[in-house]
Amino acid sequence: MADQQTDPTRESIQTAPSKEAQLGSTTDTGAPATSDRNSLTVGPDGPILLHDVHFVNQMAHFNRERVPERNVHAKGSGAFGEFECTEDVSKYTKAALFQKGSKVEMLARFSTVAGEQGSPDTWRDPRGFALKFYTPEGNYDLVGNNTPIFFVRDTMKFPHFIRSQKRRGGSGLRDNHMQWDFWSLNPESAHQVTYLMGDRGIPKTFRHMNGYGSHTYLWINEAGEKHWVKYHFHSNQGVEGLTGEEATRIAGQDADHHRRDLYDAIDQGDFPSWTLSVQVMPYEDAKTYRINPFDLTKVWPHSDYPLIKVGTMTLNRNPENFFAEIEQAAFEPSAVVPGIGFSPDKMLLGRAFAYADTHRYRIGPNYLQLPVNQARAVENQNTYTFDGPMAFQHSGDAPVYAPNSEGRGYADQVGVVEDGWETDGDMVRQAYTLRAEDDDFSQAGTLVREVWDDEQREQFVQTVAGHLLGGVKSPVLERAFEYWKNVDADTGKRIEELVRAEQGGDNPGGMADEAKVVEEPVVEQATNA
Ligand code: HEM
Repeated sequence: MADQQTDPTRESIQTAPSKEAQLGSTTDTGAPATSDRNSLTVGPDGPILLHDVHFVNQMAHFNRERVPERNVHAKGSGAFGEFECTEDVSKYTKAALFQKGSKVEMLARFSTVAGEQGSPDTWRDPRGFALKFYTPEGNYDLVGNNTPIFFVRDTMKFPHFIRSQKRRGGSGLRDNHMQWDFWSLNPESAHQVTYLMGDRGIPKTFRHMNGYGSHTYLWINEAGEKHWVKYHFHSNQGVEGLTGEEATRIAGQDADHHRRDLYDAIDQGDFPSWTLSVQVMPYEDAKTYRINPFDLTKVWPHSDYPLIKVGTMTLNRNPENFFAEIEQAAFEPSAVVPGIGFSPDKMLLGRAFAYADTHRYRIGPNYLQLPVNQARAVENQNTYTFDGPMAFQHSGDAPVYAPNSEGRGYADQVGVVEDGWETDGDMVRQAYTLRAEDDDFSQAGTLVREVWDDEQREQFVQTVAGHLLGGVKSPVLERAFEYWKNVDADTGKRIEELVRAEQGGDNPGGMADEAKVVEEPVVEQATNA
């Protein structure tokens, strides 16, 4: 048997060892590792020995080096930066991060929604816009999207909605038919689907999209006065989108196009920034406003509640390690700070539960001890959550119960709820009382008729028709035509005519054989979380 030390074929592929290699690696328990090249065997042709503990550890750790991907928003990219409050909004909120002159460190993660970790960045889908502000009063997480509205208005529907946008139980394939089945049976989705199929449906890069808190939040000032707010982050790079054709081409060329763009821009010192403005509604207005201001499928017209500038967020530092700082980042709408509260939005209230719960499963119950998730600037942190898997933060021998006789912190407040609101008494199952303008289609119709020009409308008709031609069958197809006619009669009619013409059968309007419908592949689908 040949001696491996003198085996010429193996030695010949060695290059000069680097300085680090000369230092040698260590085992995970800190001792010098004998070899990262060969396992320990009985002779060069013999079996591996179980007591090669360094080898066994490599194998075992490798088997455990992934955490489950996020159920939604699995593919994403992130960067660190800072938020600077440049305006005086103290009459609306006492939150430290929103006091003029305050600067806080922050983390942003942008994502697609329905795809898995390796899915292309340029599929048609809303984009997540998740922000974590490391404020002096604790972490504040604002977990929004690049759209100001959403597909459903009651959290009860969210898991069903997401399942309809992911993969079929049988084939494991994504399926346009399933998507339209859900959308057309839930007309409240019309506003968001219109947005998604429009020219902002696929951002050119993460840097070229706006972000929205989407929900209505409560702001409370030092005097205890309350206002309802909506957050808008406007891209200082401008808002630009991709056409379906461009996006499909890029998806084939570089699935990580948006991740690469963000990383490279920051690496080259071209720091992207966004201007934060808020719409502010006086607390009492909510009771009588003609649109239910807590319904996540609606926007507040700017003519009623104009934008008020707050400050700027700038991303200026790439993660040092993607897994530790981005994959293990845990954003949760439940992370609020004094001066900011929830609203009666039924989606927001469901989310206030969902995220911390999924983090305990995805990362582990002590996910908040990881550096990226830790509250940075809170002095005298004083929690009574202890122990559990992988705990390393502790408070020594201090009391583990409250109240206690040693003066260790105790939130001894009874009944002080400064971020609350009044509510009616009877228990019901109903997403909001309908107001004068609370129908499902008006705001979507306004977008189509009043915001878009002819070219945008034409592109929209092509995009929707292409999507419907990607496998949507009767009776869902007919329901989808009705859905669009409810949004805008003319647009709906044109969509139907185009689809029928492409199908080559029933062509009621005798329209446009020359129309160039690009059939959107099944993968280019839309969903959200
Ligand atoms: C991620 C649930 C609605 C934005 C997630 C995750 C869950 C979830 C379980 C995965 C979190 C993780 O594993 O780290 C829900 C539920 C919703 C809802 C139950 C129903 C009410 C929304 C809405 C928005 C949104 C309305 C935006 C306005 C996001 C974003 C992420 C996310 C941006 C990714 C966060 C990150 O980058 O880590 N959602 N979601 N979700 N969701 Fe939702």
